Amino acid sequence: MLRPILQSDIPQLCALEAITQQSPWSQETFEKCFQAGSQGWAIVQPIDHIIGFIVVLMQVSECHILNICVAPNQHRQGYGSQLLSHALAEVKQQGAEIVYLEVRRSNKKAIALYERMGFSKVGERKNYYSAAEGREDAWVFAKQSL
Ligand SMILES: CC(C)(COP(=O)(O)OP(=O)(O)OC[C@H]1O[C@@H](n2cnc3c(N)ncnc32)[C@H](O)[C@@H]1OP(=O)(O)O)[C@@H](O)C(=O)NCCC(=O)NCCS
Repeated sequence: MLRPILQSDIPQLCALEAITQQSPWSQETFEKCFQAGSQGWAIVQPIDHIIGFIVVLMQVSECHILNICVAPNQHRQGYGSQLLSHALAEVKQQGAEIVYLEVRRSNKKAIALYERMGFSKVGERKNYYSAAEGREDAWVFAKQSL
């Protein structure tokens, strides 16, 4: 089941981040994000077990995808695509004309997902992310014609 993220989901989201992401978001980051108006959706299995989520921020006609994450033991089963498709449909309804995201240049899985979903690379941000050794560039992707 796919449903909106609730405030009470934040501890589960943090736990998922910790086992999935290179630089996991903290509880505080999630709280600040939602206080600032971000919205998110989660894929939930019985009984209320979150296996993936997406967080986006709408700014007038622009949308930014801030986070997408699927539990490692659930990868490559279409959940990432499902979350992204759902978010794109929602923000289109809310008036988004373009959607942006940043991704580590080394994150081949995510880049493959974004390209498959119609995103194109539109720029780079040098040394944007912390990395195991030094810093890593972000690639900026965008999708129009939602
Ligand atoms: C990126 C991520 C969300 C993809 O989730 P997912 O549920 O595995 O994605 P899907 O099953 O919907 O895969 C969709 C497409 O993405 C690409 N993809 C996903 N995993 C891949 C892999 N291991 N290798 C190559 N391509 C991959 C493929 O094009 C795939 O389509 P296909 O299976 O028909 O070939 C997931 O790998 C993840 O949570 N990664 C860690 C967090 C992260 O990097 N988030 C992105 C930050 S910008």
